[in-house]
Order: sequence, then C-alpha cells, then structure tokens
Amino acid sequence: MGRGEKAIMNVKNCVVTCVVLSVSLFSSVFVFADDSEKSSEMRGKYLVEFGGCNDCHTTGYAPSGGATPEDQWLLGDSLGYNGPWGTTYPTNLREYFGNLTEEEWVVRAKTLQTRPPMPWWSINVLTEEDARAVYRFVRSLGVKANEVPAYLPPDQVPALPYLEWHVPAE
Ligand code: HEC
Repeated sequence: MGRGEKAIMNVKNCVVTCVVLSVSLFSSVFVFADDSEKSSEMRGKYLVEFGGCNDCHTTGYAPSGGATPEDQWLLGDSLGYNGPWGTTYPTNLREYFGNLTEEEWVVRAKTLQTRPPMPWWSINVLTEEDARAVYRFVRSLGVKANEVPAYLPPDQVPALPYLEWHVPAE
C-alpha cells in the first residue's frame, strides 16, 4: 500500500469510528431519557403507596391489606365520607389526571384544597419533581372510566355505603 492509499484508509477508519461513536452517544442519550422517565414513574408509585392514596381512592385496598392489583388502583370509590361538610367521594384519579396536563397539575398541586377527608396539605408540600412523578405514575396506569357518586351537601342523606365522621363540638 502506498503512502497515499494509507492516508485514505486512515481517514476512512476515522470516519467509521466517528460514526459509530456518535451513534452510540446519541442512543445513550435516548436510553438515559427513557430511564429517567421510568424512574420518575417508579418514584411516583412509591409516593402514591407511601402517601396512602390507594387507602381512599381504590375500592377495597385497605381491607385487603394493599393486595388490590395495580390495574385497579386509583379508580375512585363509592364509599362516601359523611360529616359536617356533607358527603364526599374519593375522585377517580386516573380520569382526573387524564383531564389535566402535567404542567396544569404542577401548578394546581401547590394550592390544591378540597373538602375532608382528603389530605390536600400533603399534596401542597410535594416538590415540583415529586408532583410530576405522581402525575406520571398515575398516567402510566392509563385513563379508565369508573363513575363515583357526586358530592352531596350536608342537608342530604347519602345512600349506603358511607362512613360517618362525628366531629366533637367546639
Ligand atoms: C382519607 C382519604 C383520602 C386519602 C388518603 C387521599 N384522598 Fe384524595 N380525595 C379524597 C376525597 C374524599 C376526595 C374528594 C374531595 C372533595 O370532594 O372535595 C379526594 C380528592 C382528591 C383529588 C381531586 C381534587 C380536586 O381538585 O377535585 C386529588 C387530585 C386527590 N384526591 C389526590 C390524592 C392523592 C395523590 C393522594 C395520596 C397522596 C390522596 N388523594 C389521598 C380522599 C382521600
């Protein structure tokens, strides 16, 4: 091989190496993005489990000791919570988040306030990252319809089943 040919081979090798390098760099960026999306979802699952969201928002979750399969999580419940505020029903969160963008949720989570017994103050303290994680996890479960009864004001007696909260007089 002459000197000229060798030089051409070197350039060719270099080009091949560069292409291989850049393709692998490019794909590792994508793998990384995919991983961080997945780990945000996993963190969301952890927050949902530790935050007790299923205790109220998933039918039968607490009585089963947390054994309800994940595909039935957070579909809301028709077990009412009756007290001086009227009767509230845990929202179907899979539909709720399906009707919100992640950005809308990030803003809403900071100021969310509901009737009892929803612990809305726990949502207010979520960092932006954790609010996103909760959103991503719930969205990963998929939107699924499941109608829960509408809120009833204090002067209306709810149909069974409901839990009655007796609040001591001040
Ligand atoms: C003690 C029961 C209980 C627990 C625990 C609970 N929720 Fe709720 N949640 C409710 C009830 C009841 C409502 C409906 C409140 C109303 O009608 O004002 C509600 C409503 C909501 C709403 C809808 C608010 C809106 O704008 O209408 C969101 C979002 C929500 N809960 C998220 C969560 C998340 C996330 C968790 C876990 C960190 C959680 N909840 C834990 C009972 C609960």
